[in-house]
Amino acid sequence: MRRDENETPAYQTQVINVERQSEAGTIQAAKLIQNGEIVAFPTETVYGLGANGLSGEAVAKIFAAKGRPADNPLIEHVAKKSDVRRLWMRTPKFAQILMDTFWPGPLTLIAQKSECVPDEVTAGLNTVAVRMPLNKTARALISKAGVPIAAPSANRSGRPSPTTAQHVLDDMDGRIPLILDGGPCKYGVESTVLTLVGAPTILRPGAITREMLEAVIGEVRVANSILHPMKDGEIAASPGMKYKHYAPNAEVVVVNGEPENVARVINALYRQAEAEGVECEIAATEQTRHFYNGMQYTVLGDRNEPGTLCANLFTALREMDKRAERIYAEGIPADQEGLAYMNRLLRAAGFKMIEAE
Ligand code: TXA
Ligand code: MG
Repeated sequence: MRRDENETPAYQTQVINVERQSEAGTIQAAKLIQNGEIVAFPTETVYGLGANGLSGEAVAKIFAAKGRPADNPLIEHVAKKSDVRRLWMRTPKFAQILMDTFWPGPLTLIAQKSECVPDEVTAGLNTVAVRMPLNKTARALISKAGVPIAAPSANRSGRPSPTTAQHVLDDMDGRIPLILDGGPCKYGVESTVLTLVGAPTILRPGAITREMLEAVIGEVRVANSILHPMKDGEIAASPGMKYKHYAPNAEVVVVNGEPENVARVINALYRQAEAEGVECEIAATEQTRHFYNGMQYTVLGDRNEPGTLCANLFTALREMDKRAERIYAEGIPADQEGLAYMNRLLRAAGFKMIEAE
């Protein structure tokens, strides 16, 4: 989403490539954070939009720049494991072993918050989400800033999360002073969010899978909202789940089932839409691309490597959105990293899914 024509840019947004200017870039970004400003930075999942996580005033600027609903809490990012102590009231059961196994990395843990976490970060909840990113630039920035950095994904609210600095610029040009460009993100979907308040429950699936977590701590639940729309009156375990998310402007339709059946149904739908003058594109896989000769399609990767599909999803949605009014996307089995893929895809589709038989 571009800024409105009649809005005056608040900032001349600067982009610094940290592969070339790592030290200078992180120092400048850390100073901005210390001065209560907001900065976009790379992580291994998606780009984050960070502010001093101990300052409510600084964090408020994130919500303004993103157009984010005030009731959707942020994740605190730390540079070392011991930094989590000041943010949580106490370390809950399973937290230490999970941190030792998966940090630094794409796992966010939720526990009761301490006094020092501002209400702006948690949207008034008494819990706080924390993660220690794997990305070196992210960790260097947090260390240099000397404070935890509260950061959501650096997209305008409701848009697909940014996995390159260009995506951040497309959404945030003029709204933020600085973007650190660390190249494309490794995982391409946001971190796994696991609450440790009550029975361990995944609120948002990511590259650290349910199977990986269960191998360490035993049974892990998966919130119902991950693959199903919330019912009227249902209270969101994670406020972010309430919102239509990751959505391009194009209409997204998921077609699920055996690959050959999926391809046949997509073929029919595409031809019909084409006849009606609707510009379509297919989010295809290596295994099915040959079914789509003569049609517009993008191959996201191998069906058997859901991690690759995840890594390419948000870029593909942004690119297809420039060409198509409707996107037909193939569903995959919702286990391992396939759960994260189907979660993002279904939300982009507003849960519109056809079963191909
Ligand atoms: O990979 C990531 O997690 C990226 C990078 C930048 O670190 N960050 C990210 O932040 O995806 P965001 O704000 O887009 O998503 C945070 C999610 C939201 O769904 C939010 O509702 C949930 O975490 N969340 C945060 N704090 C929570 C809390 N105390 N209780 C329940 N859900 C919470
Ligand atoms: Mg987000």
